Amino acid sequence: MISRKEPYIFLLTPHHMMLWNIEGEIPELLYYGKKKSLSTDWSAYKGTTNRTGVDLRNYMFSQFGGEDYREAYCEIANGNHNEISNFVFKGYRILKEVKFDSPLPFSRNKESIICFDFEDQINQMQLEIYYATFKDVDVISSFSRLINHHDASIFIHRLSSLELDLHAESFKIYTFDGEWARERSRHESLLTCGVFKNQSRTGSSSALHHPLTIVETNEGFYSVNLIYSSNHLTTIELDDYQRGRILTGMNDFMLSYEVKKDEEFLSPEAILTFAKNESELISTHHTFVQKHIVYKEYENAPRPILMNNWEGTYFDFTKDKILEMAKTAKDLGIELFVLDDGWFGHRDNDASSLGDWFDYSSKTGGLASLAKEIHQLGLKFGIWMEPEMISEDSDLFKEHPEYAMKIPHRTPHLHRNQMMLDLANEEVKEFVLDSIRNVLHLTKADYMKWDYNRNFSDVYSTSCPVGEYFHRYILNLYSIFQTIHEEFPHVLIEGCAAGGSRFDLGILFYMPQIWTSDNTDPYDRIRIQTGTSYGYSQASMGAHVSASPNGFTERKSSLETRFNVACGGNLGYELDPTKFTKEEKEKVKAQIAFYKENRILFQFAKTQYFTSYYQNGIGGFITYDEKQKHGFMVITSSTLSPKGQLKIPLLSTKKEYLLKGRDIPYEQVLKGNRITNLSEIFSHIEDQNEEYALYSVMLEIKEY
Ligand code: GLA
Repeated sequence: MISRKEPYIFLLTPHHMMLWNIEGEIPELLYYGKKKSLSTDWSAYKGTTNRTGVDLRNYMFSQFGGEDYREAYCEIANGNHNEISNFVFKGYRILKEVKFDSPLPFSRNKESIICFDFEDQINQMQLEIYYATFKDVDVISSFSRLINHHDASIFIHRLSSLELDLHAESFKIYTFDGEWARERSRHESLLTCGVFKNQSRTGSSSALHHPLTIVETNEGFYSVNLIYSSNHLTTIELDDYQRGRILTGMNDFMLSYEVKKDEEFLSPEAILTFAKNESELISTHHTFVQKHIVYKEYENAPRPILMNNWEGTYFDFTKDKILEMAKTAKDLGIELFVLDDGWFGHRDNDASSLGDWFDYSSKTGGLASLAKEIHQLGLKFGIWMEPEMISEDSDLFKEHPEYAMKIPHRTPHLHRNQMMLDLANEEVKEFVLDSIRNVLHLTKADYMKWDYNRNFSDVYSTSCPVGEYFHRYILNLYSIFQTIHEEFPHVLIEGCAAGGSRFDLGILFYMPQIWTSDNTDPYDRIRIQTGTSYGYSQASMGAHVSASPNGFTERKSSLETRFNVACGGNLGYELDPTKFTKEEKEKVKAQIAFYKENRILFQFAKTQYFTSYYQNGIGGFITYDEKQKHGFMVITSSTLSPKGQLKIPLLSTKKEYLLKGRDIPYEQVLKGNRITNLSEIFSHIEDQNEEYALYSVMLEIKEY
């Protein structure tokens, strides 16, 4: 909600408030935190300049050209051939909705929107800074829109989405960094003075440095994230006067975006959260994803339990093999069968055929009939595509070498033997759309796995200047996502990028779930899911049971542990089910039946991963419905005798709970929220194979 009592403007969320004083040339942030009475004497909150004339006020945004030499909100080469902006506050508007069409993904169901208007008279530019609040969640979002009125073009070198100035003695920063198969490990950095950057230059939100950034001060936790899937940049600066500044937005790396007279430029929407503690922060993020990012239809829609053939067969399959797997999957209770990579062109390994989205019929026995037979088994059918890519060894490359993203006279850098398509080219965009349409029509697919297995390297297009390329690529990609969704609204699309390398709010806007990582070894997975859970709901994370020893890490784990960990996301199986023993089949049947019975809880009840994982290695998660007084927890440990105690989030210190093992014969009454007898609980695990890298238990929780 937005309230005003001029010169004060209040942005109110359920428990928090952000307060602006609009008296000066740029609005001043007087307060952001827990709600206080609107009639507080706010004059006491106004900032000052210190004895040596240093301005200690917190402003809505910063621009270079005065005495503020810190990282600035905007850097624009203006029509008068300089880079000094002179934006001055003109007024504000409270809006019911944003009236222009955005080519970018954005948060849904905003409660109130306010636009602060600024004008640079000298350079004839107009800047609008939007803030939005949400009725049910303590998030404030922000983005900006710049309009050029000058006869000459202007060039955007930086336009951030959000600035938060705040005073602090130090910042403890949490980022989520990694690599392929090691996505989103939580890292801590202490900033006492200087500039910290969290950024991606890969052309995607990336596994390298994820856009979610959390800053802890003595006031609590602030987080920023971006509804954007390309290069991001968050800078956090602290100077010797303890002036702190958080800036977040699209990366200014290789950015020089031309805006002609009367044209505009939109920055992606950033989200800002404040919370007293980590647990509150994480819950806020989960609610935000489910209620304000994913399509309404998927807010609470049960996600199907799938079987994917990738880790079971890789490229080596036939029609008979796939049908045998699908039949077994059906018997086990699986609902959706996904045919992964290898069904098109002459794709027998990763060196060919990307772009040739036609049936490899000698392998599939006819894709349409294979899909039909899978449907006839009573299963949904899903298909893998990697639409943004092209192989050198493909008909497409022979016919249209100009479709590939490559630089004249430079041998293109191949990654996983492939190049990217030049999506800034409209003809390529149409080709991609048609390829997807054909495959979805042919197979009548219910699900599509949209993969993206490499990052940008040869950043170049004949269709646009290099300074615009990263952004234009993502705009065209978003428009493809939007078109496919409109034409095939019933198709559930799961995002994927060599595992979870493009796991962000921009993708989730179009695809309600994302494959979290190619690493399905529960020992690593629990860390990856814990890190991912900082920003994203469990329903947005794909989590599969795979074979043991794990195909990638070669570590061993029990079937129950693999299942327990996979219950922390959308459950799937990714192995060859025909290789199960009779006993294993019975176990898997029971797992699937159990999951179906409790699916709504696992997918949509409040869920928190244990951050104790980072202190003592005891990981897992709890999923608990406060109304039903019912839930489950999974506890993981690399030893059978975990030491120490576990403080369980979401449980009350004042209540008692009955804990009952799902996969162990065990029962206990828990008083409060601390488990102190972990070793005893783990001693009930039946399969105590010493070669296992991870052990786990799943306990049902009922309020007593
Ligand atoms: C990526 C995905 C995997 C699988 C392979 C197929 O690595 O993350 O799940 O689809 O591609 O090549």
